[in-house]
Amino acid sequence: MIDFMDFNYIKAIELSHDLQSDISELFDINHKTTTKQHVLSVAQTSRKLAQRFNLDENLCYQSALLHDISAIIKSDDMKKLALKNGYILDKAEEKYPFLLHQIVSIWIAQDIFQIQDERILNAIACHTTLKANPSLYDMVLFLADKISWDQKGIPPYLPQIGKALEISLEKACYEYIRYLFENHQLLFPHRKMKEARDFFYQKYLPITFRCWHQDDGELFYKHSHSDELYQYMNDDFPKTLEECEKTVKILSQSNDEAKVILLDEEMIGCIAGFYESDNKVKLAYWLDVQYWNQGIMSLVLEKFIQWLFVEKNVQYIYAKPFQDNIASKRLLEKSHFQKYICHDQTILYMRKKD
Ligand SMILES: [Fe+2]
Ligand SMILES: [Fe+2]
Repeated sequence: MIDFMDFNYIKAIELSHDLQSDISELFDINHKTTTKQHVLSVAQTSRKLAQRFNLDENLCYQSALLHDISAIIKSDDMKKLALKNGYILDKAEEKYPFLLHQIVSIWIAQDIFQIQDERILNAIACHTTLKANPSLYDMVLFLADKISWDQKGIPPYLPQIGKALEISLEKACYEYIRYLFENHQLLFPHRKMKEARDFFYQKYLPITFRCWHQDDGELFYKHSHSDELYQYMNDDFPKTLEECEKTVKILSQSNDEAKVILLDEEMIGCIAGFYESDNKVKLAYWLDVQYWNQGIMSLVLEKFIQWLFVEKNVQYIYAKPFQDNIASKRLLEKSHFQKYICHDQTILYMRKKD
């Protein structure tokens, strides 16, 4: 239970039960006028989005008014409150307790403002991070909060969101989340945000494959030329332009399944299944380092694996990542590969067709 009396710096108000005036007064009396302006602006934007997408206007308006109400509580106190309430902190929340404000806001909405509507509470609970499979109300508040942001100037992602809103709320959420990951805007992504990203990427990220062309050598070099990448590759991985051209010629004529990975029809890496027998391939892949840690490779891997299983009738796919390539190991485990320890103590990951 939240009681403002527990925080000696919070000035409480007598509730009039007019939500907008109560919220405004609470922010004013606690010297949070910038947050008040932001919240009122988000409420207006939420209302417009509700009208546009035929949703309950009042519900969206109330969610917006309450979404940042926890701004009157200090970050450290939010952490204490979360622990006291038995809430299990995400790693991102441990590092940046400010992220707890979406959870603390629902507790205030429930305990002080007597809000019980699950659609309102759920929307507030993920307004910063979103989540996988969000409701339309979750998406309205998430987007309105970003459109009416609390910083100076015009948000740089606004044109992308505006254009995507012509299609759907989902498409706009996808564009915004993609903007965040591609531009490295997140200090430490929250688990819910990564789940939201995976959910939208699965639906909308334009990943395709194509065969290698004889003249792709320069592109191979351009996207793979990085010491960061080389540390996880075998010693014979091509490093000079000449070596890349030679490798590409081999790949373009090979009977193995070697493909260029395309994002928005532009090369971002390579994935290959090298035949060890008719139904068994050894997997190899690399991704341009600027696309690392964005949830792209797991999507690429799953698409490629399904293509090998379904179109090429492969039964076994295995990979042998380097011992210290933690990201690749984690990726294979996430992609349902079984881990085996070989006689020579090396680790092998195997996935069998269902
Ligand atoms: Fe917020
Ligand atoms: Fe906000």
